[in-house]
Amino acid sequence: MCEKLVMKLCSYQLILPIFVLLSLKPLVCADLNSDKKALLEFVTAVPHSPKLKWGNASICTSWVGITCNSDGTRVISVRLPAVGLTGPIPPSTLGKLDALRVLSLRSNYLNGSLPSDLLSLPSLRSLFLQHNNFTTNIPAFFPHHLHILDLSFNSFTGSIPPNIQYLAHLYLQNNSLCGPIPDAIFVNLQHVNVSYNNLKGSIPFSLKTFPSSSFVGNPLLCGLPLKPCSKRKLTLWGIVAIAVVGGVAVILLAVTIVFCGLRKESTSGESTLQRRRPGDKPRAEYGGGVVETDDNKLVFFGSYINFDLEELLRASAEVIGKGSFGTTYKAVMEESMTVIVKRLNQAVVSKQDFEQQMKLIERVGHHQNVVPLRAFFYSQDEKLLVYDYYAAGSLMTLLHGSSDTGRTAFDWENRVKIAMGTARGIAHIHSIGGPGFTHGNIKSSNILIDHEMDACITDIGLVPIMPTTAPSSQSPGYRAPEVQETHQHSHKSDVYSFGVLLLELLTRKQPIQSPVRREMVNLPRWVQSVVREEWTSEVFDVELMRFHNIQEEMMQVLQIGLACVARVPENRPTIHQVVRMMEQAASPAAV
Ligand SMILES: *[C@@H]1O[C@H](CO)[C@@H](O)[C@H](O)[C@H]1NC(C)=O
Ligand SMILES: *[C@@H]1O[C@H](CO)[C@@H](O)[C@H](O)[C@H]1NC(C)=O
Ligand SMILES: *[C@@H]1O[C@H](CO)[C@@H](O)[C@H](O)[C@H]1NC(C)=O
Ligand SMILES: *[C@@H]1O[C@H](CO)[C@@H](O)[C@H](O)[C@H]1NC(C)=O
Ligand SMILES: *[C@@H]1O[C@H](CO)[C@@H](O)[C@H](O)[C@H]1NC(C)=O
Repeated sequence: MCEKLVMKLCSYQLILPIFVLLSLKPLVCADLNSDKKALLEFVTAVPHSPKLKWGNASICTSWVGITCNSDGTRVISVRLPAVGLTGPIPPSTLGKLDALRVLSLRSNYLNGSLPSDLLSLPSLRSLFLQHNNFTTNIPAFFPHHLHILDLSFNSFTGSIPPNIQYLAHLYLQNNSLCGPIPDAIFVNLQHVNVSYNNLKGSIPFSLKTFPSSSFVGNPLLCGLPLKPCSKRKLTLWGIVAIAVVGGVAVILLAVTIVFCGLRKESTSGESTLQRRRPGDKPRAEYGGGVVETDDNKLVFFGSYINFDLEELLRASAEVIGKGSFGTTYKAVMEESMTVIVKRLNQAVVSKQDFEQQMKLIERVGHHQNVVPLRAFFYSQDEKLLVYDYYAAGSLMTLLHGSSDTGRTAFDWENRVKIAMGTARGIAHIHSIGGPGFTHGNIKSSNILIDHEMDACITDIGLVPIMPTTAPSSQSPGYRAPEVQETHQHSHKSDVYSFGVLLLELLTRKQPIQSPVRREMVNLPRWVQSVVREEWTSEVFDVELMRFHNIQEEMMQVLQIGLACVARVPENRPTIHQVVRMMEQAASPAAV
């Protein structure tokens, strides 16, 4: 009892303030010596056998289980499996190794709780603590970049923390965890095992494709791939409640808008959006006949989490963009999943052509730098596309800020990384799609940024299904001169747009020609004129001028950008040549 009390006092009143103080210390203080000190504090405090021979010899070359980074300045990996470590991991020991990427302490006798400073290590990618004797809850604090978490074969209690959706590998089998599996969109998940715990409730839809052996040994768990759950009363009540509330006032944006679009169709008796569920009351707000046909279903690709149109339309939606192709919404689904819905209100195309194009877009979407198309919906009046949601926003907001965020710091390495990713994405689109398949709308607001600052291209393949008469299917600032005249897109016109994007990254100026903002000129022409006058360094974003060692690289990327915006299409490089030039220009860190 007493001991417990003391532990509590320690962890809440002493450790926390110390931790806060530590994290306020500037990062420059952390070096190999502080890593060494933290490691020695750890092995001194934790009994083990055989004794680890960590003497005064060089930590990077002769300490067992320790790996340093290439220049020997920080410890990046600690692997001490089965060395008889016994007792708790003291806080402020391993938790101080803030360059650590891999920690493996599997198959020891470690017990007690997991210090929260371990899970908040900024660089940690893999944590292996299986086969120990840990008890207590798993800290509810995960960094987004943690990739592998293995806590299996311990005695962890409590529930699975909610924010595990970025993990690629999650192993929690043979513990004493209880409560439901958090319902999230697991964006990267490749392996999951939560067998032999006391979990209950339904398995999230997004996990239904994993084998049943990932979930066995939890008698109260149900739903695919295990046995189906008995009728979910709560959900039904929820549906009825939402139907009633929805009917009154809080009709969510997408519902209203899409409904308006489809009302014509409903009343004309052809089909309707709403499908009636058994026991579900017909809803006043949708009116019309309730007929179930294939026509009002979302078509999903691959094993992506399924939901129905009804669910999508019921989601709370927020307009996040109005582009030349239509309006983009962020839709937060009931069960805490978020998707992007693009509404192509101008598309005029037959169902067959639309479906064919969707299949092509999906096929092109299998690349790390391309936003995959997850689902689509076609009716005569309404065409919807469903994509993943990227919380970090677009390159446009990163470079020029949105009204509420303003400009943020944006270093060279990340700019190169994004440029490189974009070039690779376009190269992929061109080679998979073939000569006739262009993006047609490369611009900074179509480059989304993921949580690792990688570029993902969106809005692919929409040009062919938009009316050719549309006055400006592409923002003028990015449009190649020949597209201006002929409205014909080609691989070389994508290269031109990419060139403008490179110049935008270098100058942090927006390539728009707006009569309102008179100082805005054609970005390529402006850069060319400055370079011609030999004031080259004047073109670069002042933020980049602070770094002296990158000038050479910046000049090379500028040359690539200028080559891409050549007036005559034949004089522009292909995107594959651009990728190669970028790889040669960029420092190894960004490649
Ligand atoms: C380590 O320190 C001990 C005494 O402190 C010394 O005798 C020994 O030579 C040192 N070894 C190395 C490799 O520096
Ligand atoms: C941890 O293990 C040690 C050694 O086996 C034991 O003395 C201690 O009571 C254990 N602590 C907890 C919290 O289980
Ligand atoms: C620790 O776990 C091992 C098996 O993993 C078990 O044999 C042992 O009894 C446990 N020790 C304690 C103190 O709980
Ligand atoms: C995991 O738990 C199950 C059920 O308790 C048990 O049958 C199995 O042997 C355990 N596995 C290990 C390696 O302890
Ligand atoms: C999950 O862990 C259990 C218990 O160790 C094992 O039997 C099962 O095969 C594992 N399943 C997967 C998919 O790894």
